[in-house]
Amino acid sequence: MNFEQIKEINNSSAMPTYGRYDLGIASGKGTVATDFDGKEYIDFTSGIGVNCLGYADEGWADAVSSQAHKLSHISNLYYTDATALFTDKLTKATGFSKVFLGNSGAEANECAIKIARKYSFDKYGEGRYEIITLLSSFHGRTMSTLTATGQDALHPDCFAPYNAGFVYCEKDIEQIKAAISDKTCAVMMEMIQGEGGVIPLEKDFVNEVCALAKEKDLLVIIDEVQTGIGRTGKLLAHENYGIKPDVVTLAKGLGGGLPIGACLCSEALGGVMSAGTHGSTFGGNPIVCAGASYVLDKVNNEAFLENVRANGEYIREKVSAFKNVKSIRGMGMMIGIEVEGKTGADVVKKGIDNGIICLTAKTLVRLLPPLNITREEIDLGLERLKSAIEE
Ligand SMILES: Cc1ncc(COP(=O)(O)O)c(C=O)c1O
Repeated sequence: MNFEQIKEINNSSAMPTYGRYDLGIASGKGTVATDFDGKEYIDFTSGIGVNCLGYADEGWADAVSSQAHKLSHISNLYYTDATALFTDKLTKATGFSKVFLGNSGAEANECAIKIARKYSFDKYGEGRYEIITLLSSFHGRTMSTLTATGQDALHPDCFAPYNAGFVYCEKDIEQIKAAISDKTCAVMMEMIQGEGGVIPLEKDFVNEVCALAKEKDLLVIIDEVQTGIGRTGKLLAHENYGIKPDVVTLAKGLGGGLPIGACLCSEALGGVMSAGTHGSTFGGNPIVCAGASYVLDKVNNEAFLENVRANGEYIREKVSAFKNVKSIRGMGMMIGIEVEGKTGADVVKKGIDNGIICLTAKTLVRLLPPLNITREEIDLGLERLKSAIEE
């Protein structure tokens, strides 16, 4: 089947929810994706932050396939070794007490929202359910996480009514103070707003929010769906801010290419989601957990993380010298580039012609390369990106 036939079949059978590029990928190995005509592309997207070890990492593929041969799925009615070993590894690696496993970032955030409301209900009774989120945030596409998302453009009338209980604020401590009422139970934020335009939060602001939340007994929920699992050069991005949140959500890179969502909580919250209050048929699937255990072993390593920081610095330094680059922001290998006179979409399209795939974030070009990319691959990718930005 050629690419034209694949496109036609896809477009006639799949709902038209995605604006796809005119590109189909047939296979991938490491940092290189190959299209249906055999053309190779350096991948600076990691499948939107998912393939943190690149395509078809040998160790990851072995871990996944040997678990698939042993036990693929059984449900959460029973114990399995792959799931138990993974939850133990993840809680120990992150310093959180308990984890709930789902299948996506949105699901991880749904769990976080439920924990915040139930914690508050159990302690204070009814009515304390509001969650403060930030403008330009992105928390998912389910009705609750979409409502939590602080972007008017993502709240069209056709999906109304949106869920009650979310309040949006600028990244301004006075606005947050003013928004807190006797209905508030939590504050939820990303350390770097990814979809919102690669916008890192200020350290002082984050620390002030955490202090305020502590004073008012509000839970601090950090959405690390995009920033977590080594992306910023620390295992979790909030480590860059020196804070200890109550709840952290993960997805994307954690699975290394298979669907996973994780909601981690502190010791004090470990018993909030009691039996029967939450669940997922696929959550904690042994195959996914075997792959995620492998990812965690690789990424939770100081030399690996140091390399992410060094490569991020290297990319930022090189890109800032390109003609037409107005500004560059981000942390580690989560990078946003503002280009003079061109939108991110212009650059991404030109990049595809040049053999590099990148992302956009609002009007910016966004780079989320595999965390184990080599310097040679970075150099080749940057050469192609340079001409897409400069031409
Ligand atoms: C910060 C953040 N939260 C939540 C989500 C939603 O994750 P998923 O698409 O896996 O539901 C995303 C996805 O881009 C995200 O970047």
